[in-house]
Amino acid sequence: MNLVPSERPWQDIYQILIDTVLPRPIAWVSTLGLDGERNLAPFSFFMPVTARPMTLAFAPMRRGHTPEVKKDTLRNIEASGEFVVNVVTRRHADAAHHSAHRLPIDADEFERAGVSAAPSIDVAPPRVAESPVSFECVAHRIVDLGDEAGSGHLVIGRVVRVHLADELLDDRGRVVRGRLEPVGLVGADDYLGLDGLFELVRHD
Ligand SMILES: Cc1cc2nc3c(=O)[nH]c(=O)nc-3n(C[C@H](O)[C@H](O)[C@H](O)COP(=O)(O)O)c2cc1C
Repeated sequence: MNLVPSERPWQDIYQILIDTVLPRPIAWVSTLGLDGERNLAPFSFFMPVTARPMTLAFAPMRRGHTPEVKKDTLRNIEASGEFVVNVVTRRHADAAHHSAHRLPIDADEFERAGVSAAPSIDVAPPRVAESPVSFECVAHRIVDLGDEAGSGHLVIGRVVRVHLADELLDDRGRVVRGRLEPVGLVGADDYLGLDGLFELVRHD
């Protein structure tokens, strides 16, 4: 079978993407709102891009029912130009999963996710203290891919500082394979860890 994406409903195309491009690593993105409220949300349309400059990219999509309303993460980055990408590990996959809930823009999403904030050094948004790897980023470019449902933006971040937990590292400062325990997304609620598949239940 083959198909032309523009001839199909966006939901079918979204389904093909999430069923075939996997497992996807998860960017757990922290931002600050205009009034200083802390925002945290997971994004699996996420990838490393280049090493010099060090860049990462992720894609906040427009919501199906309210495509005209931008996600808080995107709004905050457009306003401040800063964000932190925190790596999601097995131990905090549940907290990351639940930080996808749609909350009022003034809610403290660190508190709601049950994680603590650690100060960043070069950007204002805090890091997730429990995450062993965090990338402090400034927005390099935000690419607008359209304004209809199923569309969205690609946010390219230039990493200005990397945080690596000491316990991940060998004596040469390199990450020891197996110590990070990363997770990837393979379905709406299904994840893949180093020891296999697991499912997380939504509590809402
Ligand atoms: C594991 C996981 C991965 C997700 N990946 C994405 C993604 O890549 N793009 C997206 O737009 N939404 C994604 N979502 C949904 C957002 O996290 C969700 O819309 C969230 O409410 C956005 O929060 P914000 O409005 O505070 O930015 C994902 C949700 C989960 C649980």
